[in-house]
Amino acid sequence: MKIAIGCDHGGIVLKDAVTSTLEALGAEVVDLGTNSTDSVDYPTYGLKVAETVASGQCDAGVIMCGTGIGISISANKVPGIRCAVVTNTYMAQLTKNHNNANIISLGGRVITPDEAKDIVTAWYTAEYEGGRHQRRLDMITDIEKKYSK
Ligand code: RB5
Repeated sequence: MKIAIGCDHGGIVLKDAVTSTLEALGAEVVDLGTNSTDSVDYPTYGLKVAETVASGQCDAGVIMCGTGIGISISANKVPGIRCAVVTNTYMAQLTKNHNNANIISLGGRVITPDEAKDIVTAWYTAEYEGGRHQRRLDMITDIEKKYSK
């Protein structure tokens, strides 16, 4: 699996833990920045990761900002992206099982690097269950289509 990662200055504290965890799980990590603690705008990085996943250049993504919220809102504007803010392993597993989340979003001011490792592992190793959940994902796609120009 090829996984795109991106963060702002508020999320960068989690980046090393996320990268090493994904690599230990066998993923190829594509780092789209940022690469310092200088203040940057989270939509830039949410968009980069979302476009890389939506275009098929990467299979999935992990994004990080201070709370995980702003960068997830940005990523979810890209058609085809199902990005979930995740704060524990239960949410991480369920968002793959039920939502087939192709990006998860983490908060560097909300969780620790050790918690990020467990969350990324739970999401990466979980399976999408399909079935009744696919009908609901199709409904989400219909909403995207309704509002796309
Ligand atoms: C940046 O200070 C902060 O607003 C950002 O990282 C994120 O928490 C936004 O949702």
